[in-house]
Amino acid sequence: MRLLIVGDGKMGRAVAALAATRGHEATIIGREENAQGRGLTAERVRGYDVAVEFTRPEAAPANIAGLIEAGIPVVTGTTGWDAELPRITALVEERQGALLHAANFSVGVHLFLRAARALAGEFVGREGFEGFILEEHHAAKRDAPSGTARALQQRLRDADPSRPYPITSVRAGAIPGTHTVSLDGPFETVTLQHTARSRDGFAAGALAAAEWLPGHTGVYTFDAMLFGDRR
Ligand SMILES: NC(=O)c1ccc[n+]([C@@H]2O[C@H](COP(=O)([O-])OP(=O)(O)OC[C@H]3O[C@@H](n4cnc5c(N)ncnc54)[C@H](OP(=O)(O)O)[C@@H]3O)[C@@H](O)[C@H]2O)c1
Repeated sequence: MRLLIVGDGKMGRAVAALAATRGHEATIIGREENAQGRGLTAERVRGYDVAVEFTRPEAAPANIAGLIEAGIPVVTGTTGWDAELPRITALVEERQGALLHAANFSVGVHLFLRAARALAGEFVGREGFEGFILEEHHAAKRDAPSGTARALQQRLRDADPSRPYPITSVRAGAIPGTHTVSLDGPFETVTLQHTARSRDGFAAGALAAAEWLPGHTGVYTFDAMLFGDRR
């Protein structure tokens, strides 16, 4: 495949490195070449099978819109632009384009979310246990709590509305990402944890999405791709 990677940062480079090992041809477009998303013209993106976008919240909507208008399927992992999703969804539908978005491209995290929901369900009606979430990330991560922690909290509350599952965020060092759910009682603690060891898990998931998306139309989440339920 010919892959266009938008964003010359940590994730863009990780996806490009992995793509090369899988026999794909990857080209990275950085911010200098793409101020305000203006570098993503139909002419510039011609010949690519799919684009993978990892930039910044303020840049992602313009990048995605430009790529959709140019007729190229888009996988994006940029977080923090959820408010723009309805407008982008309408554009994708109008152009009969393809978009797959996810705040977390780790397969293990999506399995962890399902397991956490089942765990919370088991504690429904069990008095004396308090539930809480701890999320830990590297010091440079801008948003807190993480999008994954918010998704985790939502699933836990859906399974057990009686427990609020408050979130505590830690920003320190170089931690790629750790999410923990605990239920603590007077004599014992039950803990479920997901630990990312590196960015490569996110890059592998984004690349799997890029291999899957061409040939589809509409808006998909990674969850929908993994488990078959369209959102
Ligand atoms: N979905 C997931 O699994 C996952 C995993 C990790 C991270 N993320 C998210 O992915 C995003 C990127 O993360 P990262 O760690 O790669 O951040 P990063 O290292 O800061 O890289 C972002 C890059 O995007 C560039 N950029 C900004 N505007 C651009 C534009 N209009 N066109 C092209 N490039 C542009 C930035 O350039 P400048 O520095 O010059 O502005 C920077 O090089 C963040 O939102 C992060 O939260 C998602």
